[in-house]
Amino acid sequence: MDKPEISAHGAEQPPGNGKPPERFTIDDLMPGAEGPRDWRRLPRLVRTSFRLAWRAAPRELLISCGLQVFNGVATFVQLLIGREVLQALLGSTGLGPVIPSVVALVLVGALQRFATAAEQEQSELLRELVTQHAQSSVLDVAARIDLAEFESPAFFNRLQRVSMGGGMRSMEMVHGLFGLARAAAGAAGAVAVLLVLQPLLVPLLAVTALPLWIVTRKNSQDTFRFFVGITALERARHYLASLFTDRQSVKEVRAFGLGGYLRGRYDRLGAERVRELRAVTRQRLRRSLLGGVSSAFLTGVTFAVLAWLYVSGRLDLASAGVAAAALTQMAGTLAMTGMSVAHLYGASLFVQDYEEFLAQGSAIPRERGTRLPAFRELRAEGVTFVYPGSTAPAVRNVSLTIKAGEVIALVGENGSGKTTLAKLLAQLYRPTSGHIWWDGTDTATCDEEALRDFITVIFQDFVKYHLSGRENIGFGRHERLDDLEAIRDSARLADADEFLSRLPEAYETVLGKEFTGGTDLSVGQWQRVALARAFFRDAPFIVLDEPTASLDARAEHELFQRIRDLFRGRTVLLISHRFSTVRSADHIYVLHGGEIEERGSHEELMASGGRYSELFTLQAAAFLDPEAGR
Ligand SMILES: Nc1ncnc2c1ncn2[C@@H]1O[C@H](COP(=O)(O)OP(=O)(O)OP(=O)(O)O)[C@@H](O)[C@H]1O
Ligand SMILES: [Mg+2]
Repeated sequence: MDKPEISAHGAEQPPGNGKPPERFTIDDLMPGAEGPRDWRRLPRLVRTSFRLAWRAAPRELLISCGLQVFNGVATFVQLLIGREVLQALLGSTGLGPVIPSVVALVLVGALQRFATAAEQEQSELLRELVTQHAQSSVLDVAARIDLAEFESPAFFNRLQRVSMGGGMRSMEMVHGLFGLARAAAGAAGAVAVLLVLQPLLVPLLAVTALPLWIVTRKNSQDTFRFFVGITALERARHYLASLFTDRQSVKEVRAFGLGGYLRGRYDRLGAERVRELRAVTRQRLRRSLLGGVSSAFLTGVTFAVLAWLYVSGRLDLASAGVAAAALTQMAGTLAMTGMSVAHLYGASLFVQDYEEFLAQGSAIPRERGTRLPAFRELRAEGVTFVYPGSTAPAVRNVSLTIKAGEVIALVGENGSGKTTLAKLLAQLYRPTSGHIWWDGTDTATCDEEALRDFITVIFQDFVKYHLSGRENIGFGRHERLDDLEAIRDSARLADADEFLSRLPEAYETVLGKEFTGGTDLSVGQWQRVALARAFFRDAPFIVLDEPTASLDARAEHELFQRIRDLFRGRTVLLISHRFSTVRSADHIYVLHGGEIEERGSHEELMASGGRYSELFTLQAAAFLDPEAGR
């Protein structure tokens, strides 16, 4: 996996060569997310959240909803019964008439407690189910999305936000909605009570809510902006931390004594996060205080009005008492509403991120079920490829033809575009311009997965699966993972059977040290396992990118001596820096700066005296004449 590049400031390198944005702003990522328009998107986002929760856990969602509504109604009922109790107490001398109301009050209270407890349990379950569902859909998209997207830091930032925040935030949104629904049910009752008692109190109450509303909205926006802005920094910080904790990198970090330097850099990024967080919290606190004071002042005014209504004889004592209770109740409800709105708003923007990420996956046209003829010829025509975020093409106007059964070699200096061209031919990237034809069918119109089924690629940086040896080879055709005999045959072809059989649990031994019972292999042994995987795949077109870089001289020699034998009937595209290994290829293409500079057989290329013959002679001379290499 490509790691993010980190600049001196700890932020990622810019896409392209423009000046790096020091931080992403909310508008870079979501134009129009600020300002009044954002509220109009809320209904759609609410629907997305509910749809998500509904798909993940319909039963839990329904139960949760029911319990929430019950809670809201129960609060209101309690208020009404309270009024009954007060009136009964004020109107009579005995306790008798009060008893039924008190019993009802206790019953409703007990039920409400039970509902609250049950609701909390359900919520936890719901949260887990929704989070898992959201994470799965993010993985689904990540598995489908164009590989080229993985070259862009902006994509990784969003991926990180949705995979870490999407599910949880979406749940937060559902909770925010529940909270609002509950508050609305409670508020509706209290407002109804106040309307009956004294309508004047209602608009006053609404004004009390206003400061809270404004503060909540602004604060939530700030929080979101903070999280968006900090994503790049957080990825850089996690990357630095991984250098200390990853088994592969830790040895080099120690060997170069980089610990102190990297720690300092990590700490600086941490401090930057704290600094920004402090600024945000300070700002939010200032606003909350202002909002709180205004709200309290307005509540005071409401109570003063209530007192005046009582003193001037416009309200009796019982009604004034219930109005006071309703007002207090409403103050609580308002606070809850504020919190719910904060949840809702904060989460909605994350949910939007999530929604857009999922939409990215569905935007990819999927052609299914294309039937492809058996492989006879692969032809590239004027293929150019520019990596996302780059300006210069990595492959430039390449045309070549590969016929079934041929062994084709790609050579060229570092960075000349060999791997990129191999990825294009293996249908992992789509050309920026130009066409690749598979037996006369333009691959742009084919089902990519069906095409890939015909292709095997072993990359320069092949994957070392920290799973069993059987799986490491069997992944070539995972449908036949249980066919141990065929797996062993492939291992034999790659000279891997001997050392795999000697492992404590033979082919079932976990390779790599990350997990209990794991055994690590040498680099060359890993390479043999990767080669065995290629043999096991049994596809007609094989791409081997530096397949022998870590093999010992004998193993390499044998592989190339037998390459036609080993891959009999198949087509091989071989990339290698060792010229001795490519000389027997049917065609050799020399890449330079992304372009094909020379082509021909070994003899033809040597005779033409171009770059190939120069590099070949240089390498051969280094072997033969000890002085030449100096
Ligand atoms: N993921 C990427 N994003 C942007 N540019 C890239 C990426 N990978 C490679 N490049 C650039 O594309 C060019 C070709 O790279 P490529 O990996 O194809 O070279 P190569 O011939 O395979 O080199 P090597 O011999 O070192 O394996 C280089 O200039 C490189 O900097
Ligand atoms: Mg390469």
